[in-house]
Amino acid sequence: MSWKTLDDMDLRGKRVLVRVDINVPVENGRVTDDTRIQRIVPTLHDILDKGGKPILLAHFGRPKGKRVQDLSLLVVKPALEAALGRKVVLAETLEAAENGTDEIAAADVVLLENIRFYPGETANDPEFARRLSALGDVYCNDAFSAAHRAHASTEALARLLPCCAGRLMEAELSALEAALAKPERPVGAVVGGAKVSTKIELLENLVNRLDLLVIGGGMANTFLGAMGAQLGKSLSEPDFFETAKDIMKQADQAGCRVLLPVDGLVAREFAAGAEHEIVELGAKTVLDDDQMVLDAGPLTVTLLEDAFAGLKTLIWNGPLGAFEIAPFDTATVAAAQAAARLTREATLISVAGGGDTVSALNKAGVADDFTYISTAGGAFLEWMEGKTLPGVAALGG
Ligand code: 3PG
Repeated sequence: MSWKTLDDMDLRGKRVLVRVDINVPVENGRVTDDTRIQRIVPTLHDILDKGGKPILLAHFGRPKGKRVQDLSLLVVKPALEAALGRKVVLAETLEAAENGTDEIAAADVVLLENIRFYPGETANDPEFARRLSALGDVYCNDAFSAAHRAHASTEALARLLPCCAGRLMEAELSALEAALAKPERPVGAVVGGAKVSTKIELLENLVNRLDLLVIGGGMANTFLGAMGAQLGKSLSEPDFFETAKDIMKQADQAGCRVLLPVDGLVAREFAAGAEHEIVELGAKTVLDDDQMVLDAGPLTVTLLEDAFAGLKTLIWNGPLGAFEIAPFDTATVAAAQAAARLTREATLISVAGGGDTVSALNKAGVADDFTYISTAGGAFLEWMEGKTLPGVAALGG
């Protein structure tokens, strides 16, 4: 890795602009999951211990360059203070930070109000980045989960100040590099979720790098449909049957085994505890028009457990079924528990991230057992697509 870390920086008496991702879920004015906040604490403590003053740059939601009161970072401040064990002063405007009120000058930690209130942020405007750069002496990017955005605070700023990766950025990059760039083989992935159309590049990249690809969730229906299965009103994208066939062909040529569900839980309505049956799935399956596949079945889970046992590395993205509602979470929970068990037994390196994945693993009660859980959603997917993330590239990596 060619980027600098906090270990390479002299921070004594320095103002450190730290790009963090505290874009956390909030309900009724309270943070409902503070994982992203907890994960930046080591970086901020390190900067403080080294005599630096962290000035945090962060976005919250997508205010589109305007001040939107509901998207003020004020709502996140109490959770940040609790996690840090320090008072945090919110600089409500860029001007306030520039003019440096007494409170801001005296603060241990400053948080700049939602950086996306300024149109220059998402435009990656050089002049806006220059204004930001004047607020600090050093730039530290600890927001891997926003590194797929070429924005002023994630990209342009890195080119204007001495820069380094924060501890979370370091951890994310080394875990992901170990999982896909230089994995212990055999390496496999579980890719679930609703649609093939959103994951084409990801699947194409993976089949050329992996030994095993497990396809689950609604997107498996598109693959089964492409083989000839008629799956009633199951989620499926017939427009992508050709894409699915093409991905299967690429996998075959690259020597990547693709595992599709061989059975599934089939119901006529998507509701908690809906009446359902286990149906064998394959090219010849024909379901009634009002039936749908909502989860992988027990035989598929057994196949997955066996396949996982033969792997050294597993990347997990997306659920195997409609996991929000029981019993359609059964396959996701059972397979995640199998991966967690192998990880505990130290035979498997397991890395998970992206979208619904973390809530699915939390539901399975195994989030702590995986080797690494990424805080990233979209950035994790772009990394799985094999893309260079602008925020990482700007660090010199
Ligand atoms: C995320 O929640 O994935 C990151 O904070 C990035 O947010 P964005 O998709 O609005 O850029």
